[in-house]
Amino acid sequence: MNNSVPGLHTILLIEDNPGDARLIEEMIAEINQLPHADGVAFRLVWKPTLQAGLAALRQGDIHLILLDLSLPDSQGFETFRRTQEGAPGTPLILLTGQSDEKMAMAVVRAGAQDFLHKNGLTAFYLARAMRYAIERKSFAEEIKQLSQRILQVREEERSSLSQELHDGLGQSLLALKLQLQSRLAKLEKQTGVQIAGETSQIISYLDEILQEVRTISHNLSPIGLKGLGIAQAIWQLAQRFSHAQGPEIIAEVDALENFFPENWDINTYRIVEQALVNAVKHARASRIVIAVRPAGSGILVSVSDDGTGMDLAQLAAAKERKGLGLHIMKERGQIAGGVLQIVSEPGKGSLVQIEIPARV
Ligand SMILES: Nc1ncnc2c1ncn2[C@@H]1O[C@H](COP(=O)(O)OP(=O)(O)OP(=O)(O)O)[C@@H](O)[C@H]1O
Ligand SMILES: [Mg+2]
Repeated sequence: MNNSVPGLHTILLIEDNPGDARLIEEMIAEINQLPHADGVAFRLVWKPTLQAGLAALRQGDIHLILLDLSLPDSQGFETFRRTQEGAPGTPLILLTGQSDEKMAMAVVRAGAQDFLHKNGLTAFYLARAMRYAIERKSFAEEIKQLSQRILQVREEERSSLSQELHDGLGQSLLALKLQLQSRLAKLEKQTGVQIAGETSQIISYLDEILQEVRTISHNLSPIGLKGLGIAQAIWQLAQRFSHAQGPEIIAEVDALENFFPENWDINTYRIVEQALVNAVKHARASRIVIAVRPAGSGILVSVSDDGTGMDLAQLAAAKERKGLGLHIMKERGQIAGGVLQIVSEPGKGSLVQIEIPARV
């Protein structure tokens, strides 16, 4: 639903303290009295619990969130995580007490635009922070779209490279092998000298090269090639990672080829691939389960392991990102039009799950 009025920005305040809420309300009224070059006025919607705040976000039309982390139904980083999950594209400013600075920094590192101390806050600073946050978020969204586009372009390039290898180099090698075999047979016939035995080594080298080209081309574009459906491709992926010394990998994959429009499948496949690589590389798991199932009118794809698990809050707040895998997974989840969830706790294994609604 979009009830947006041009020039009016709706601010959602999620804060359980009525006194603090009243103060913010008064500041917004004060801000609206001041003349501003951009002519934008603010309207405040106040919700005292996270549940009520999330419900307001689902209604749409929120331009900025002011969030208190300590709420009756949620505390700390979890409050931020759930709010951001409810509205990933909406700028968010944290309202904190003096003592929460460390947590506030962690939340800013994890994607919030700013944090403000409630004590000593003035209408002037609130107005400035809100305007900057909206600008910064729109810039961040542009970068995000660009990075999603890069992922798409990369996939398109991989796919065309895969075809070149398969149809160009692969076919030429096959033609070379067939010609060689036929010439050798002819030569044998003409001369009566048995040469097939000596040359069989060359033919088997050629077979090996051909197989390598096929494997490279398949890995570059596991779904596009030969019209393999995602179910089949994921099943093959599981086989590829299974080996005697590694964890047991179970693939419970229903045949779902027809659920997927183009692009959804390759991105979902890559999420499974990355989650599987992570589980094998980091989790020291004994069992990894990949499941692909119909869910409602869409599908649910999950990779779970019984390994070491991870501290998601700590990873999100880390000053230096360890790797790119989890980040790219989220980007791909959005491109696939789905909702990606990562559930994990130290010592309790990990679950990466994406739910994709069917194409309408
Ligand atoms: N299934 C898992 N079990 C335990 N820890 C995990 C798991 N998946 C990820 N992690 C932890 O999260 C970190 C970040 O994962 P991510 O995939 O983003 O990066 P990476 O695997 O380290 O590097 P990259 O994916 O860029 O090669 C990992 O370094 C690891 O500590
Ligand atoms: Mg990784």
